[in-house]
Amino acid sequence: MKIIEDIDEMHHYAMQLRHEGKAIGFVPTMGALHEGHLSLMRQAREASEHLVVSIFVNPAQFGPKEDYKEYPRDPRGDTGMTRTADVDTLFTPSPSAIYPEGYRTYVDVEGLSGVMCGRTRPGHFRGVATIVLKLLNIVRPHKAFFGQKDYQQTVIIRRMTKDLHLGVDVMVLPTVREADGLAMSSRNQYLNPEDRRSAAILYRSLQEARSQFDKGEHSAERLREAILGTLKYEPSVQLEYAAIVHPETLEEVREAGQGTVIAIAAQIGRTRLIDNILL
Ligand code: PAJ
Repeated sequence: MKIIEDIDEMHHYAMQLRHEGKAIGFVPTMGALHEGHLSLMRQAREASEHLVVSIFVNPAQFGPKEDYKEYPRDPRGDTGMTRTADVDTLFTPSPSAIYPEGYRTYVDVEGLSGVMCGRTRPGHFRGVATIVLKLLNIVRPHKAFFGQKDYQQTVIIRRMTKDLHLGVDVMVLPTVREADGLAMSSRNQYLNPEDRRSAAILYRSLQEARSQFDKGEHSAERLREAILGTLKYEPSVQLEYAAIVHPETLEEVREAGQGTVIAIAAQIGRTRLIDNILL
């Protein structure tokens, strides 16, 4: 596995691979890799001749009071994981190279960035869109792989790649879960054992909504009540939002249908977790 830190070197290497006709697959991450990331890498491996994974904890997507400093970092563990996943190139740029003195350019995917997680995390998706655009420009992949776990992020990235004619296929892969249903996340490490147990209620509340939907309940209000009713059993879980939305516009629907997305965000102790399902 080749490890590249330098941006120009990564870009030149990618251009050379393209010139050789290699199909480049790309999995961008912020490291602290877990089974969810690995599943993206495995599927990207299958679909690419040259697989690039990036690890970059992106300061631009953290708010001033958020966990940029505490965000888990495990370069040695991550390098081991990427090796086992048969990654060809690991790209690990530095923050000062990505955002040098005088840096001024940001991408705003209007509307989609201000709803759901965007309400409590202003500027978050501007930071995500900006770094993903920069990474796509450097790595020049044919296909880029993202997890459904961060559903709003996938919608914003799809919109951006289309709007800016980036010519990259955005692939979205299913959420990998722990045995009790909790979506895997680098932030799960923050949970103490008690909160970790309570956290399983998030997915259970989504499953309860799905089961109501399957029984014929399509009213978004009723489905939201099913979620709230389930979450009541764990008072330590503070719901931030439960959104029942159109899969592309992220607009709230009154009636759920095939393809409608149910997304939730909640605070457990000091940890913020998200999850979603597609009906
Ligand atoms: P990060 O949270 O490290 O996630 C990297 C990729 O792994 C994202 O596409 C995310 O959706 C996916 N992922 C995380 N947990 C997953 C799970 N349990 N199952 C399946 N996929 C999962 O998302 C980011 O980093 C950043 O915002 C990034 C896109 C890298 C831009 O900085």
